[in-house]
Amino acid sequence: MLIEMRDIHKVYQMGKQRVHALAGVDLQIEPGEMVAVMGPSGSGKSTIMNILGCLDRPTRGTYLLEGQSVADLDNDALAAIRSRKIGFVFQTYNLLPRTPALANVLLPLMYQGARNRRERAERALARVGMADRMDHRPSELSGGQQQRVAVARALVTEPAIVLADEPTGNLDSRTSIEIMQLFRQLNEEGVTIVLVTHDQDIADCARRIVRVRDGRIVSDGPARYALPHEALGGGGSDTSEEAEGGGAQAVSSAGGTTPSGNSTPASSASS
Ligand SMILES: Nc1ncnc2c1ncn2[C@@H]1O[C@H](COP(=O)(O)OP(=O)(O)OP(=O)(O)O)[C@@H](O)[C@H]1O
Ligand SMILES: [Mg+2]
Repeated sequence: MLIEMRDIHKVYQMGKQRVHALAGVDLQIEPGEMVAVMGPSGSGKSTIMNILGCLDRPTRGTYLLEGQSVADLDNDALAAIRSRKIGFVFQTYNLLPRTPALANVLLPLMYQGARNRRERAERALARVGMADRMDHRPSELSGGQQQRVAVARALVTEPAIVLADEPTGNLDSRTSIEIMQLFRQLNEEGVTIVLVTHDQDIADCARRIVRVRDGRIVSDGPARYALPHEALGGGGSDTSEEAEGGGAQAVSSAGGTTPSGNSTPASSASS
């Protein structure tokens, strides 16, 4: 098991007020999964991601990352785990604005004091389709390209898991789908991915959807695992179509909040 959360609670103290952001979350994630976390604003999605990413600690409960209890670690050890095991992707990319793409991707390797840094950063950029933009600064790149660079930065350390909190939140729908295609390709190469989204079409690109409400998981089941190709207007998406992958069946996830089913452009993954 890569990730195991048992009865995780998170309480924020705001003056006299206590905010129970997480109220008993149980979540298990195996290596190689691709999980979308959905839920209303304020339901606790980012709080879950912050705990998964060792950016924050639970108030109560057990979090095991690769079998190790995170509660036992001091802040330095947590920072080391973040640096070695976790790659982060953010809604607003969080690249250094005046620094070329290559240097942005090099940065996590510098912190690690890793070897072959330049070669590894170049390889990560090539992996996300940005080999020809390595010298561009973020301001010289489109939003989608900036997010690709951010994904390369998350991948360059070869983390056990990539966490992305609304990675397509600032992108138009076409570019969002391209980023999801990239995540799918990486997942098929073995990268474990957990992402937060508000968008059902985006969530359906994952293999599994976890729904959160009021700090609890209210449903957990397979996604459609379909890219809405048709929404691209026939644009060059050549991802192989598969109906068998990872136990993904064309079913609505257990919570039953599938949006009406009639306006979904991706009719199926197997046509
Ligand atoms: N640092 C904090 N201090 C106090 N309260 C917080 C803090 N961070 C989050 N909360 C509260 O915890 C609850 C869950 O917040 P969280 O950010 O996890 O929601 P979310 O599901 O990510 O929402 P959104 O979709 O708007 O990003 C909210 O009620 C929020 O106000
Ligand atoms: Mg959030």
